[in-house]
This record gives sequence, structure tokens and C-alpha cells, in this order.
Amino acid sequence: MNDSMHFYQPAQGHGLPHDPFNAIVGPRPIGWISTQNAQGQLNLAPYSFFNAFNYTPPIIGFCSVGAKDSLRNVQETGEFVWNLVTVPLAEKMNLSCAAVPPEINEFELAGLETAASICVKPPRVALSQVAFECRVSQIVQLQSANGLAVPSWLVLGEVVGVHIQRALLKNGVYDTASAQHVLRGGGPGDYFTVTPENLFTMLRPR
Ligand SMILES: Cc1cc2nc3c(=O)[nH]c(=O)nc-3n(C[C@H](O)[C@H](O)[C@H](O)COP(=O)(O)O)c2cc1C
Repeated sequence: MNDSMHFYQPAQGHGLPHDPFNAIVGPRPIGWISTQNAQGQLNLAPYSFFNAFNYTPPIIGFCSVGAKDSLRNVQETGEFVWNLVTVPLAEKMNLSCAAVPPEINEFELAGLETAASICVKPPRVALSQVAFECRVSQIVQLQSANGLAVPSWLVLGEVVGVHIQRALLKNGVYDTASAQHVLRGGGPGDYFTVTPENLFTMLRPR
């Protein structure tokens, strides 16, 4: 045991005022996910257990902690759209996480316009500067190390259509640093963004 290191086993509690897990695995990109059910009812919600997992084909995923509307919709239709959250959209993203019944359309709740998708049925957030149209490739229920089922579902989807606002392409290269991506930190409400000053470049060893 080293006194300069706090050690804990999550199953026995962290012994700190706040669980540090989310703050450590962060900041995380946000999966702002639009879906619709078989009847066409729209849904929009943020998921920060979200990331990219493969290049070819491009695959992204988000995790529903508990069976939420987005999960039920992708189970029904096999489609979703990921929408980029940038600083001007942060508050609307936050509004869209309200725990409301499935018949409530979070686009309306947050005052957001939709824009039609091309390859899938769920629309994208019109003001979002980047959107990925996705077809579900796998839905994996998580399990613990000793094989017990966890009520969380990882939804993976192949990106079949990509929308990028041309202003974010500088000489054809996507400019992450100036796009003002919003990233989730820890605690009840910490977020980060990136600015050009945060950029550093490091090439892999050859
Ligand atoms: C920034 C942010 C990130 C979130 N990340 C997740 C997540 O990764 N998984 C999850 O189950 N809920 C997450 N939530 C909560 C869901 O957005 C919330 O439960 C929402 O009501 C789910 O909507 P739905 O039932 O329409 O799918 C997050 C909320 C916010 C604001």
C-alpha cells in the first residue's frame, strides 16, 4: 500500500465525496442520438458513454444505462443518427436529456429543428454541424466479470452517411480545434471544450 495513492475496489465503494470514475474517464465525446420508433415518434437524447470503435467500416457506439427510449427505438427500427454537440448547442443538448415519456419529442422540448436524413429514417439535428447516419450492427447487453447480466446495453452502429458543414473543412481537412466540440467531464455538470491552443501534434514512431 502506498500512502500517496488512493486505492479502492469499486464493489466496496470509492470512499470519496464523489465517484471519480466519470471525471477520470473524461472528458468524453457526447453521443447526441436521434431515433424514432416504428410509428415514427421522434426521440433525441445525449449519451456520454459514447465513442468510435472502428475505421472500416466506421462503427460508433453508445451505452444505455437502463432500458431507455433510444434503446427501445433502435431495437425496433435498427437505425439512429449521431449529432455533434458544439458549444452553441450545449444547453439544448442538456434540455434533451429530460426524463420524459416516449411520446414526448425532445426536438420540440429543446426547440430544435430537424433535417431529413438521406440513408436512414430518423432525422438529424438541423443546427448540428456534423451528423452520422447509422445502421445498428450489434446490441450487446453488458455483463460483470463473473458473468452476471448488467441492465446496460451497448448499441453499436455502422456509419452509413456523414454530413459535415463545409465551414469546418479547412482545405478539405476537418478542423476539430475550431469546431467547439462539447465534452463531458465528471460530477453533476462538468463539461469541457477544445480550442486551437490545446492542440499538439505527435506522430507515431516508424
Ligand atoms: C451529457 C449527458 C450524457 C449522458 N450520458 C448517458 C449515457 O451514457 N448513458 C445513459 O444511459 N444515459 C446518459 N445520460 C442520461 C440520458 O440522456 C437520459 O436518461 C435521457 O432521458 C435518455 O433519453 P431516452 O430515454 O429518450 O433515450 C446522459 C445525459 C447527459 C446530459
